[in-house]
Amino acid sequence: MSDASGSIEAGLEALSERYRQRFADADDELALRGARAEVLGKKGELTTALRGMKDVAPDQKKSVGELVNRVRASIEDMFEARLAALRQGMLEAELNARPFDLSLPGRLPVGRGHLHPVRQVMDEILDIFKSLGFEASWGPEVEVEANNFTKLAFPPDHPATDMQDTFWVDVAGADPAARPLLRTHTSNVQVREMSSRKPPMAVVSGGAVYRRDDDVTHSPMFHQIEGFLVDQRVSFAELKGVLTAFAQRLYGPDTPVRFRPSYFPFVEPGAEVDVGCVFCKVEDGTRASCRVCKTSGWLEILGCGMIHPEVFRHCGIDAEAYTGFAFGMGVERVAMLRYGIPDIRVLFENDPRFLAQF
Ligand code: PHE
Repeated sequence: MSDASGSIEAGLEALSERYRQRFADADDELALRGARAEVLGKKGELTTALRGMKDVAPDQKKSVGELVNRVRASIEDMFEARLAALRQGMLEAELNARPFDLSLPGRLPVGRGHLHPVRQVMDEILDIFKSLGFEASWGPEVEVEANNFTKLAFPPDHPATDMQDTFWVDVAGADPAARPLLRTHTSNVQVREMSSRKPPMAVVSGGAVYRRDDDVTHSPMFHQIEGFLVDQRVSFAELKGVLTAFAQRLYGPDTPVRFRPSYFPFVEPGAEVDVGCVFCKVEDGTRASCRVCKTSGWLEILGCGMIHPEVFRHCGIDAEAYTGFAFGMGVERVAMLRYGIPDIRVLFENDPRFLAQF
């Protein structure tokens, strides 16, 4: 070896020895990585030392090059070994540390959760009907066209069945002729219950429904409560009695209730129920202006009617022997009126600052 290569070799050995010590002294990963950068980094010492290469005689270049690569690899190995040792040490320290006591109380106060306001209102309404003798039932949110529309006597071209109004869905493996959809109302529960059991029956059911609707008072997903009663000789008088009792339980015993004729394909006759506006005050016999009821003095709360004989026939119930009534209502609307919530969307944003108020 020439002088130049000899001194390079000695220099590299010294360098390697120095960094063995530096790595051993590094007592955490950050310090270790810092030391590595100082030798192997772009401006590291090994790189700088290589500048000496230009003085190496051409016939020595190959062996000096190999030497440099060996030194580099060995420094790299020393680094990896020290890194593994540091990590092992940390792991052992963690395992040997005083055990973490999961049963200790937390340091931050953790607020206690509660049911969502829509769920609270839904349960309250269901409870009123349960106390009147209705039993609770359930129906799926993904439904077939027959149970949501056809058996409820919707004509095939009814606008509610339109793409603009209803979410039709592709269900893998489902018969496309069944035309699956997201139920647009909870009235599918009527069809399911009446098709699978014999009267008398009085059933309530609550749950999510879906429509292509989205503005301050309409959400594409919202909740409804459905109820119906089937027996011999059920008349409109029972419908009025039950729904009046319900409205006065929910809004107070003196609440005025009125029934207005209305149309739904699956009832005949059909009606909508209004309660006296709970927001506007009557002074000197006249109403102060009210945004909620538009100063009409009435708030619509539900749709109802006598179950159409056609629906009974579709569900296998003898329409000569039985009559019944049905009703359906939106849950969010009740919550919005009760709490003075002007925009339905805040109910589903789940901002804890909003939810904490209930
Ligand atoms: N399903 C109707 C709706 O979504 C409400 C309703 C239910 C009307 C039962 C009458 C009887 O608007």
